[in-house]
Amino acid sequence: MSAVGQAIDRVDGRLKVTGRASFAAEHALPRLAHAVIVTSTIAHGRVASIDSAHAARMRGVIVVMTHHNAPRLAPPAGASGDQPPAPALTLLQDERVRYNGQPIAVVVADTLEHAHDAARHLEVRYMREAAQLDFNQAKQGSRKPKAQPERPSDTSRGNPAGSLARAPQRLDVVYTTPLENHNPMEPHATIAAWDGERLTLHDATQNISGVRKVAAQAFGIMADKVRVVSPFVGGGFGCKGTTWSHVLLAAMAARLAGSPVKLALERTQMFGPVGARPMTEQRLQIGAAQDGKLAVIVHDTISSTSFIDDFTEPCTSVTRKQYACESLRTSQRLATLHLGVPTYMRAPGESSGSFALEAAMDELAHALKMDPIALRLHNYAERDPEKDVPWTGKALRECFRAGAERFGWARRTLAPGSMRVGRELLGWGVATAAYPGNRRPAKASATIHADGSATVSSGSHELGTGTYTVMTQIAADALGLPMSKVTFELGDTRLPEAPVSGGSQTVASVGPAVLAAARAARDKLVGMAVADAASPLAGAFAGDVEAGDGWLFVRSAPTRREPMAAIIARHGGQPISADAGAEPGDEKRQFTAHSFGAVFVEVRVDPELGTVRVPRVVAHYDVGRLMNAKTGRSQLIGGIVWGIGMGLMEKTELDLASGRILNANLADYHVPVNADIGLIDVGVVGTADTHFNDLGARGIGEIGITGVAAALSNAVYHATGKRIRDLPITPDKLL
Ligand code: MOS
Repeated sequence: MSAVGQAIDRVDGRLKVTGRASFAAEHALPRLAHAVIVTSTIAHGRVASIDSAHAARMRGVIVVMTHHNAPRLAPPAGASGDQPPAPALTLLQDERVRYNGQPIAVVVADTLEHAHDAARHLEVRYMREAAQLDFNQAKQGSRKPKAQPERPSDTSRGNPAGSLARAPQRLDVVYTTPLENHNPMEPHATIAAWDGERLTLHDATQNISGVRKVAAQAFGIMADKVRVVSPFVGGGFGCKGTTWSHVLLAAMAARLAGSPVKLALERTQMFGPVGARPMTEQRLQIGAAQDGKLAVIVHDTISSTSFIDDFTEPCTSVTRKQYACESLRTSQRLATLHLGVPTYMRAPGESSGSFALEAAMDELAHALKMDPIALRLHNYAERDPEKDVPWTGKALRECFRAGAERFGWARRTLAPGSMRVGRELLGWGVATAAYPGNRRPAKASATIHADGSATVSSGSHELGTGTYTVMTQIAADALGLPMSKVTFELGDTRLPEAPVSGGSQTVASVGPAVLAAARAARDKLVGMAVADAASPLAGAFAGDVEAGDGWLFVRSAPTRREPMAAIIARHGGQPISADAGAEPGDEKRQFTAHSFGAVFVEVRVDPELGTVRVPRVVAHYDVGRLMNAKTGRSQLIGGIVWGIGMGLMEKTELDLASGRILNANLADYHVPVNADIGLIDVGVVGTADTHFNDLGARGIGEIGITGVAAALSNAVYHATGKRIRDLPITPDKLL
């Protein structure tokens, strides 16, 4: 029986619950010094002076690093003059301040307490300049993002203006989403240790090879002189996909201190210096016939960015592919604020974009007095309407059918406010979930040992998503070994290179490489066996040999078999190794790979208090083959939980006077807790997407959050008749 697809417990679960899985900040190194970052208290201006003399003399202090004494870093290759090494970063190369909370100094001491104590005694004076903090003002001067080939700022097809003018049914609505922060359980942390020109970084990251590249470039050393180690990551959600300032600051501080340095961000520092989901304002104009057939969609978006570097929240990407619609126009603009650089967060673009698009579709359905599922199916995109190519697979109809059946959608009455439970208003909402199937080149290595066990590796990441487990399943099946005999290694740049664990691409990218490496190692062993006169498999056709449960056997004559360990033993006990890579091919041109789902949300709204509870979410997804029924389901549920947070709770509150984040902690920045979550019922279609890769698996990291905020707001409308177009849907907006 194959391991892939089963509901299998996490292979690293025991390590985690017993506290033996070590995270970045937990590596014990001799002579480890402790660093804290001191951050700016103004949003824009310059550090006029920074007096560290007193702090530097305090007990235990090793060094105080400011822009005066920080090591100078190399500008990026091909860049000229004073361009900083990584444009998104602030690395104490000058005295400029571009957001409140920006790193302006690092204090290193023998203990964390001494470092904190000294940090409080730095005397900083500023020259303030006017700060742009108001999105509504900044958007007046919004501008186009830098051109990115995959992310066009403007797209158009058909005749949007004409179609809008002629459409019998028109909708013109504006949605907004707030600034949000990722807040993984494990804050960012880096331990940096130099050995001459060699640098080792123990880092909490979704991208070990990315960190290595940025560090090597900044310090002007070869990439092979930098080792990044990250065996366990306590959640990322996108903020650990980029190499942020603290990583390089830790390495710079370690240079000055002459010893390894640990720099762990405080929870407060998770708001600002390590990215955020930018604010968006999205205008949706839809034109349709009276029967609901879409004629045109226009989606104009503005998202916030920083003065340090640009980031565009790609809200329109989902709109360009979601519906069959002849005319379409989309635009992306940026409003620049004195805030930290925004970044990818939990389905960047798809989650904020699907909120606007899928709520607008619900508004259209209500205007037409149509069932919202019927409206969506009436405009079903049989092909990718943007590139006019077939999908690698799309079972969205089945998602709506199965989801609606389990939810009991047929019992829904159309009119808002028409369903009640006691004194509470009951609302049922639906939305489409969608996320692209991403894939990048990856490498892996597999070794079968003399005792019949195997080690398989790839420099990927375990964010709590189940990578160790799923890769072990894939390798075990391909090697013909029980999972207990296979050890999977990841999170080290000494291992074969894998891409960033972002964009929901780890299984789809690393999985095929692991499969190829394991198959190659097995094939080597098969080759040895069939050529070995002493083996019962001698002379068999290699293609007729199979591996299972630690044995090789001839498929057409299964009694001809031998344990793998016996074959290796007869050949001197040398382990059998193979390396392999896998990468996307021509299918990228021929098809569009995309995952889909249908999300059904039930809300109960207290008409006097405006509180919204979510007793039930039912969702059904087409994500190709689900690799592990247990970890996969958990991941999809986790995405839905984040969607409930996005819909009802999450908002980073900015003080418009100072640029300070007012709720930079987990008491005031609300995320869903167990008490907020009712029943979440997740199902998958499960059909393997073999056009996409050998495994037939797309990715499930991000699709779970998409569509949830829309389905929630649609349910709130169905319950109350109030259309809340500004997230999060808090009680004040419903009263
Ligand atoms: Mo994801 S936001 O691509 O880690």
